[in-house]
Amino acid sequence: MAPNTLTLIFLLSLAVFSITNVTKGSDPDILTDFVAPPGSNSVDGTFFAFNGLRYIFDSDTPATFNVSKASMKEFPALNGQSVSYAVLRYPSGSVNPTHTHPRASELLFVVEGSLEVGFVDTTNKLYTRSLQLGDMFIFPKGLVHYQYNADAKNPATALSAFGSASAGTVSLPATLFNTSIDDTILATAFKTDVATIQTLKAGFAAKA
Ligand SMILES: *[C@@H]1O[C@H](CO)[C@@H](O)[C@H](O)[C@H]1NC(C)=O
Ligand SMILES: *[C@@H]1O[C@H](CO)[C@@H](O)[C@H](O)[C@H]1NC(C)=O
Repeated sequence: MAPNTLTLIFLLSLAVFSITNVTKGSDPDILTDFVAPPGSNSVDGTFFAFNGLRYIFDSDTPATFNVSKASMKEFPALNGQSVSYAVLRYPSGSVNPTHTHPRASELLFVVEGSLEVGFVDTTNKLYTRSLQLGDMFIFPKGLVHYQYNADAKNPATALSAFGSASAGTVSLPATLFNTSIDDTILATAFKTDVATIQTLKAGFAAKA
């Protein structure tokens, strides 16, 4: 084979390798049907059922924005299955602050009320939408996003499905202003002064 052909084959295999790596967008594959809890010899149907969200249907809308998760932590049978759920409840005027899920995309489904949603891609382009009852929205994996219930009177509820048993959440306000990142570093990063950073940090202080 001519060197050019070899180079071409090499480049093609490199391309195929990177594509398969990029498209591997889910949790690691398991080599068993499911992952039983450590030390258990057998499980039955109860292991695969989760009733930790029943209370949502018996309780009123919470006073502040509330997330109830059914991820691997709450529901161990999800380990290795690459899926999880969350129920998001928004009293009128509340926001799910800007955050990302490092390990999963999120498919949100509005089951009560309406929501203003948006995400920002890696070129800093903002995509927004007003969602009505019955609408869905996909937040791509790892990108910063939010949801806001702009309705002055009515609560909203959404179900979110995640492409990971443990999607993880990085909340930008808390990550930036409720950790111990140095005030001067934050002030420089945000092109502001230390007093402004301290005001932002004070918003997270435990309420007396
Ligand atoms: C959401 O509501 C549940 C049940 O009332 C509560 O246990 C949980 O702590 C709340 N979560 C947040 C983030 O407030
Ligand atoms: C801020 O961080 C502390 C310590 O991790 C935590 O207990 C507290 O709930 C956080 N406050 C808010 C408003 O997230």
